[in-house]
Amino acid sequence: MYEKIWNQNKIAFGGDYNPEQWDEATWEEDMHLFGLAHIDTVTLNVFSWAMLQPDESTYDFTKLDRIMELVKKNGLKVVLATSTGAHPAWMAHRYPEILRTEFNGMKRKFGGRHNSCPNSPVYRMYSARLAEKLAEHYKDYDNIVAWHISNEYGGECYCENCEKAFRVWLKKKYHTIEEVNRVWDTAFWGHTFYDWEEIVLPNLLSEHFAYERTMFQGISLDYRRFNSDSILECYRLEYEAVKRHTPDIPVTTNLMGFYKPLDYQKWAKYMDMVSWDNYPSNQDTPAQIALSHELMRGIGGGKPFLLMEQTPSVTNWLPYNALKRPGVMRLWSYQAVAHGADSVMFFQMRRSIGACEKYHGAIIDHVGNENTRVFREAAALGAELKALGDETLGARARKETAILFDWENWWAIEYSAGPSVLLKYRDEIQNYYTALYEQNMATDIIGVEDDFSDYRVIIAPVLYMVKPGVDEKIKAFVQAGGIFVTTFFSGYVDDHDLVVTGGYPGKLRDLLGIWVEESDALPEGETNHFTWKGARHEAVLLCDLLHPEGAGVLATYEEDFYAGMPVLTKNRYGAGAAYYVAVRSDASFYEALIREICEKAGITPVAQTPGGVEAVLRVGRDEKKEFLFLLNHEKIEQSVPVEQDATDLVTGMEWKKGSKLTLPAYGVAILKRSV
Ligand code: GLA
Ligand code: ZN
Repeated sequence: MYEKIWNQNKIAFGGDYNPEQWDEATWEEDMHLFGLAHIDTVTLNVFSWAMLQPDESTYDFTKLDRIMELVKKNGLKVVLATSTGAHPAWMAHRYPEILRTEFNGMKRKFGGRHNSCPNSPVYRMYSARLAEKLAEHYKDYDNIVAWHISNEYGGECYCENCEKAFRVWLKKKYHTIEEVNRVWDTAFWGHTFYDWEEIVLPNLLSEHFAYERTMFQGISLDYRRFNSDSILECYRLEYEAVKRHTPDIPVTTNLMGFYKPLDYQKWAKYMDMVSWDNYPSNQDTPAQIALSHELMRGIGGGKPFLLMEQTPSVTNWLPYNALKRPGVMRLWSYQAVAHGADSVMFFQMRRSIGACEKYHGAIIDHVGNENTRVFREAAALGAELKALGDETLGARARKETAILFDWENWWAIEYSAGPSVLLKYRDEIQNYYTALYEQNMATDIIGVEDDFSDYRVIIAPVLYMVKPGVDEKIKAFVQAGGIFVTTFFSGYVDDHDLVVTGGYPGKLRDLLGIWVEESDALPEGETNHFTWKGARHEAVLLCDLLHPEGAGVLATYEEDFYAGMPVLTKNRYGAGAAYYVAVRSDASFYEALIREICEKAGITPVAQTPGGVEAVLRVGRDEKKEFLFLLNHEKIEQSVPVEQDATDLVTGMEWKKGSKLTLPAYGVAILKRSV
């Protein structure tokens, strides 16, 4: 049996609501419009710190009380935010230490948001205190479904407080200065430290010559860990503060998908459920959006998550803020649900009139009524979700194939000076994911600390950093019959970005049965080739020159001085096998590779669909029913063969095995069937 994330009776529908920006007459109007749109959940109090605490010692919740009463009276559930994502001006004025220092050393003044120094004792004290006061004040209010700590935590700080805290963090981690020198390899360029006080933060004033370019990867890597931990500590202080008074209300903070600065895999351990904000850009493909959802589900251990924000129509912060075409908001909402969301929520309910988000989409537009395309689409979706009820809540994905993704590996790969600036971890993950996605294969994105044993295939593109124990875990997985795939630039370093000597790919060498002697970085536009299973494919980005040491050679390079050397190998190991892909290739190669591997592992697609129709399966709470989501991302009608008797929960129609289901442009079906 799978659990719901909270005691919901339907998919939560609503989002960020900022009535404090409006007069009370407007509030009543909002309530009326929310009713029309079937909104049942509002996220309140995201940016109200200055209102709640006008000075050092005064807390004034009278306006928030009125808002809370209003929404309760109207039957709305509340996701209550703690408002600590933007500190008040008086606080910055009085305590400049709460202001951040940027990467370039620039000390900020008051302004913007998400700009508090995470190591400022004053910020930590006041933010945790506000969270605690809110929890104490609203503990008997029976309509709060979740706590929303701060908002989209992020960024970095390089102030003196952070520098001091960094030294403390290092001492705790490494105990001696000698160990720090070892792990950072400070003998290089004579950077040996004799005293903790000599250590400074790595930024433009010290070890960096650009944001992503550092002279000491080990230092920069530890700074990233430290910064992520520092911000996490702020979250945790608030988490504990609200739990003291409301131990049963689940706590989350809204994450941002592939957000590099914060190690969400670590963060998720401290969250009762994951929630995230989905803002794809105009160019993002459905497979890219899907991958972000998988990542967010994965960090939460496969449990359902909340779609905390998405825009109903436009963003305001892209260079070109294109409208979501009619039907796309609905389609992407169901896509989130298909991948594990138990809510469909927006930023925001009513479009503000001032400042930088006044042209960001909202359910209620500046015109102020229900007669807009966006409102009508939202209301129609609201009605559908209401009708859907609790059927899909708590449902989970099947565990078959997993892609390994590791935040610290991401940092390390992209800090690396060489072999190629074109190497971007997320792109390599996406290449493999897209091939799985196109073939409708159930895929989880997991971390190196997760359990591997439930999967039959694990793909680890560019597993550059192999942390202690991870090689053994992978070997045990393959030994037991698993199929493992990895690529170029894997196995090179340990968790300090120190190279493992004795030949690449380091600790994975025996598993893969190869030795990588050299790697050729191809400039953009240059291509080598190889032929596999009768098809010719591109070799780009990085070409490893490798020697088999037991592995079978499946394909070889066709050009350059390394023509004839292996480019694709497979090594039998225990009851399983390990593949090595020595290059980045093209989509048709990834497709063929996934096809072969899934076939070998006995993994079948969740459905057969025409191109552009995404199919995602979620297994129901009782594990006796499952839901096949069919999502037509094309602007033309498409038809999908029905493989099993089912009921479409969206239309209520019954479908017999062997019939053909027609999906309109951007259409959605949720086929409920027995397992
Ligand atoms: C983020 C924030 C919101 C709002 C939206 C606009 O997700 O959390 O406060 O700024 O972006 O897209
Ligand atoms: Zn700081």
